[in-house]
Amino acid sequence: MDIAILPSLLAADCGCLAEECRRIAASGAEALHLDIMDAHFVPNLSFGPDVAAMAHRTVPLLPLNVHLMMTEPHRYAARFMDAGADTVQIHLEAACDVSATLTEIRRRGVRTGVTLKPATPAEAVFRFLTQVDEVLVMTVEPGYGGQTFMHAMLPKLAVIRREASRLGLENLRILVDGGINTETAAACAAHGANGFVAGSALFHLADLQAGVAAMRAAAATAYGRELGM
Ligand code: DX5
Ligand code: ZN
Repeated sequence: MDIAILPSLLAADCGCLAEECRRIAASGAEALHLDIMDAHFVPNLSFGPDVAAMAHRTVPLLPLNVHLMMTEPHRYAARFMDAGADTVQIHLEAACDVSATLTEIRRRGVRTGVTLKPATPAEAVFRFLTQVDEVLVMTVEPGYGGQTFMHAMLPKLAVIRREASRLGLENLRILVDGGINTETAAACAAHGANGFVAGSALFHLADLQAGVAAMRAAAATAYGRELGM
């Protein structure tokens, strides 16, 4: 199973974001995760399309994974696609026609993803699985970095992985986001996750490349251990 590591720019030194983007690109990570918060869907504000454009301009070969924590993602998705997003994640709990928004993102040739808050059950994503390239399971309440990982989310990963396999979607990327470090990445991989968003656990490291490699190795070793498939 392909394992992907996605450093989250939210934890980077915001005094030198371009340099931090170059550091991520040099680390061997599969993509850069960009958190977009509208101070409505979540109680925080973060970046806008200009930061996405800066990241894409600075490291054009590094895929940009845009996580829209917005009540109305359908009104802003185009601006992030124009800015160079490789993948656009929208929340299942957003106030929009999720299926129509996914269709519009795919029509633009951009990868699609749906995100579930901790309280949203796994089954809520089943009807969208054939419309997405990835599913993002929040392992903290969205809105801030540096929070504690919620172990109660582990069974949700296995339910989604089993349903994806039942549908023949073997390549579906199941990501986790929030409180991810090498240890919690291994626990998530054991339950079927193969994509790992990490902010504070990676950005406090002097050697980001070694941190990314260690997280990938721990996940690859543990992958599927709890699935019994
Ligand atoms: C939180 C964001 C996460 C966050 C992860 O709402 O979606 O991407 O930046 O940060 P850590 O890894 O520090 O929990
Ligand atoms: Zn995120």
